[in-house]
Amino acid sequence: MSEGDPRAPDVGIYEVSPRDGLQNEDEFVSTEAKLELIALLTASGLRRVEVASFVSPSWIPQLADADELVSVLRRSPGVRYGALVPNEKGYERLRAAGPIDVVGTFVSASETHNQKNVNCSIAEQLARLAPVFERSRADGIAVRAYVSTVCGCPYEGEVAVRAVVDLSRELIERGAAEVSLGDTIGVGHPNQVRELVGAVASEVSIERIALHLHDTYGRALANAQAGFEGGVRIFDTSLAGLGGCPYAPGASGNVATEDLVDLFEREGIRTGVDLDALVDASAWLERDVLGRRLPGRVFRARLGERERERRAL
Ligand code: HMG
Ligand code: MG
Repeated sequence: MSEGDPRAPDVGIYEVSPRDGLQNEDEFVSTEAKLELIALLTASGLRRVEVASFVSPSWIPQLADADELVSVLRRSPGVRYGALVPNEKGYERLRAAGPIDVVGTFVSASETHNQKNVNCSIAEQLARLAPVFERSRADGIAVRAYVSTVCGCPYEGEVAVRAVVDLSRELIERGAAEVSLGDTIGVGHPNQVRELVGAVASEVSIERIALHLHDTYGRALANAQAGFEGGVRIFDTSLAGLGGCPYAPGASGNVATEDLVDLFEREGIRTGVDLDALVDASAWLERDVLGRRLPGRVFRARLGERERERRAL
């Protein structure tokens, strides 16, 4: 959609269920089912989807099929596909696998979570990422940089706003197109998110700031609204509220895509995404793939509505 198009969305959604969602499942989901999930997501109108993770397969076995998945990915026109990369080896795997439009790097704002997640200090992780930034620039691939534990760390507790601001600025200076501020364990609250976004936006332009909100305390949607009011226009979401970081104890799923789309559309904020198609995708994932009850609230509510309508027929 071009600028000025009356149907152009007001916010951009970065869908992370194939990566953040499935990395946290107990069972390995087949490559074929992952591909189907990605196809359903893009068919709903989502335009950016994180589909894989080129991390160590012994650390995240659920996504060990990243190479194969990307090599056979059926791309939809107008969709940008992303994947996580922790180091140069991950970048090499990504490039060998097939075309990916967005390289997702990640580093935590707290030392202990970074150590647990990538087995090195923040400074060492930034050094490991240097060739990823360089090679992405040379190859013309956008880098999206996650900053994790921005609202709190599962090991250290409070995280200084200054640490988040400094890391965000540094990642942009290194060439990231955007930074995604990750409330990894979902402990943030609206005032905190407002303050954090304001602080980061004083050093990084607001169009480059995304929010990646986990929903552990049920505040992710309120935090997204606070972020929107603070000027953020990019939100990471996950179908039916799947997600979590295996190296952050207590972390639960991301804000559900259906919940964010429903809230924003009701507030007159266009998302460009078809809620019914998302509900169909979640119903399929729940019934045919994961075989367990998925948490998304709007998903559950819409399923209930459908059931009542069916019975009334
Ligand atoms: P390490 O063990 O310290 O790595 O792990 P190493 O460099 O010492 O290498 C050890 C072995 O791993 C070697 O193999 C390497 O080749 C291999 P060996 O010689 O023993 O046969 N290796 C790799 N293999 C495949 N792909 C690679 C790779 N790199 C090394 N890329 C490492 C360091 C970073 C690899 C590991 O700690 C790791 O993979 N961590 C990933 C953890 C993870 O994926 N966490 C979840 C994603 S982050 C997240 O969810 C947060 C986010 O959603 C935002 C938010 O919510 O805040 C993004
Ligand atoms: Mg996450």
